[in-house]
Amino acid sequence: MSDTKTSSVAGSPLAIPVGQGVTRRDFLNEITMGALGIAGLGSVAVTYQYFSPNVLFEPSTTFRAGNPDLYPVHSVTFLQDQQVYIVRMPEGFYAVSAVCTHLGCITQWKPDADMIACPCHGSTFRPDGVKIEGPAPRPLPHFAISLTADGELVVDKLQIIKASQVLKV
Ligand code: FES
Repeated sequence: MSDTKTSSVAGSPLAIPVGQGVTRRDFLNEITMGALGIAGLGSVAVTYQYFSPNVLFEPSTTFRAGNPDLYPVHSVTFLQDQQVYIVRMPEGFYAVSAVCTHLGCITQWKPDADMIACPCHGSTFRPDGVKIEGPAPRPLPHFAISLTADGELVVDKLQIIKASQVLKV
């Protein structure tokens, strides 16, 4: 026979031994330790986040535009994903922004009219970006264009250059 006393509800399979139950003090200690543990984990998470580098991933401003032979002389090629025109004239290459200087609409090359036109408010530009008419306050900017060591065109959209600077190939 066991001499452990139990208190139980009649018919209940649960029985708590008398003298081994959870006291109010033990219960409050457990709750306090649990709350402190959660608060500690939270502060560790916040500290980790604070010291982690806050990196913003943006698309590269430099891109390769392929071999110069892809572009015939007297051509304007719209690179939609970069929103840039690669213009090849007898004097060389230049890269012109396709973003209108009025309110930022994407312009369109109109080969029949030999001009770049903005569909929003009607500004028009020559293939070299010079404004013909419309509300655009400035010509389309030119981006730096150069050749890589392996002979590909590379455009840097972060570098605005003078319209007179062309890449001779
Ligand atoms: S955004 Fe191009 S003319 Fe207004």
